[in-house]
Amino acid sequence: MELFLDPSDHRSLSRQLYDQIREAIADGRLPPGGRLQPSRAAAKDLGVARSTVTDAYTRLAAEGHIAGRRGGGSVVVGHAFPRPAQAAARTALTPTAQAAAVRRYGTDWQPHSGFDLRAGQVDTRMFPVADWRRSTNRAVTRLARHYGHYGDPAGSIALRGTLTHWLARSRGVAATPESIVVTQGAGHAVDLLARVLLRPGDVAAVEEPGYPPVTNLLRSLGITVVGVPVDDHGLIVDALPATARLVHVTPSHQYPLGVILSRQRRLALLHWASRHGAAVIEDDYDSEFRYTTRPLEPLHRLDRDGRVIYVGTFSKTLSPTLRTGFAVVPPGLVPAITTVRQVVDAGPPPLITEALDVFIEQGHFDRHLRRSRKVYAERHNAIRTALSSLSRSRLTVIPSQVGLHMTLLAPDAPDDDELIERAARRGLRLSSLRLTYQHGEPQAGIVLGFGALNTVDIAQAIRLLDRCLG
Ligand SMILES: Cc1ncc(COP(=O)(O)O)c(C=O)c1O
Repeated sequence: MELFLDPSDHRSLSRQLYDQIREAIADGRLPPGGRLQPSRAAAKDLGVARSTVTDAYTRLAAEGHIAGRRGGGSVVVGHAFPRPAQAAARTALTPTAQAAAVRRYGTDWQPHSGFDLRAGQVDTRMFPVADWRRSTNRAVTRLARHYGHYGDPAGSIALRGTLTHWLARSRGVAATPESIVVTQGAGHAVDLLARVLLRPGDVAAVEEPGYPPVTNLLRSLGITVVGVPVDDHGLIVDALPATARLVHVTPSHQYPLGVILSRQRRLALLHWASRHGAAVIEDDYDSEFRYTTRPLEPLHRLDRDGRVIYVGTFSKTLSPTLRTGFAVVPPGLVPAITTVRQVVDAGPPPLITEALDVFIEQGHFDRHLRRSRKVYAERHNAIRTALSSLSRSRLTVIPSQVGLHMTLLAPDAPDDDELIERAARRGLRLSSLRLTYQHGEPQAGIVLGFGALNTVDIAQAIRLLDRCLG
């Protein structure tokens, strides 16, 4: 801990030290067990006599705040003070109304005992620890000569090259290494694109219901967000506001309803964007998990105008802990995006991107995807079967053949909170459909994420859900 002395202060130097350390212990900056700098070293750093420091330490020890440690030095004594919560909270600053209006989504990050059917869960037990460790070791060695440098703000060109090949073979997306920007997940890609393409006050269109973090992110940037309804064929293009400068869509697997944007709507959306001079963000967040249907051509492939930005993420395919995704950007926008990226966070962490490059290049990613697809296909089948046997048919299942969640509408229920609370009390965690409506009248229902449970647990969890419905 840094200590400061002010010769013009009316208190003695020793008293100033005592007060600072005591305050740091009180507000938790110096936690129980934390070590104080040895008095000789502290005196040298501060340019004072050693006795100035020892006087302060002696008083702190006498009052029970610190204790001598075997082998020398002093440590903070546990629970010397109850930690006053207000100390950390106290501030004269307030967030702007724009920032305060941003709502959190999915605030509970703790793993739970019982059955976790919340949306967005992946199976942490499937993370390929050994292959990732080998890839990381390799990356540590490969980067040996680069530790003193920041990386490329768009991500290493090696990884962008690897992603180019992977995108071509997995999604038929034609990219070049130079057109790819590696980001901290899909959300961050939307942030960068909005910063470059929109001004505060501009209008952006998102799906309704949709993925709340995108709406909140855009609002935090001062953008006016309009929700556009979704039907069985995906986003209703005719309902797009003519003023929208940007449209965010999830064509492969609409979040949360799970429908696929039809080919006709894809063409209509591109035509609309071209007529209105708007950009389209194609968020392909979980398209890698497709079970029976053949994929439709991505918007990016159909785009003749350079209006579509394809966004992907490793949050579902590998792990959200990597905080890695990417955007395939029209070449003309790359310099602006890379420049903004550099001033915001200097670029993705080279250790992660290098490890990911090794991981994909050496075939671990393809292998992992094959394995996970098989497992998730079994779980998808298990949840469909279990849902079809729900005895109380107050819930309508929206058919879906892609991704890691299924959505159920509760047309008769006024809201879904009560069901979710009842289920939580019985050890079943669910996500609310209502919370994915950010603009107009919400529909009640639940979004069931089946990624984290095995097939036996899925069957049991749905039986439990059935009982909660009664
Ligand atoms: C529509 C949508 N986009 C993106 C993501 C993932 O975002 P990120 O890559 O920022 O973790 C999710 C996660 O559930 C999502 O539902």
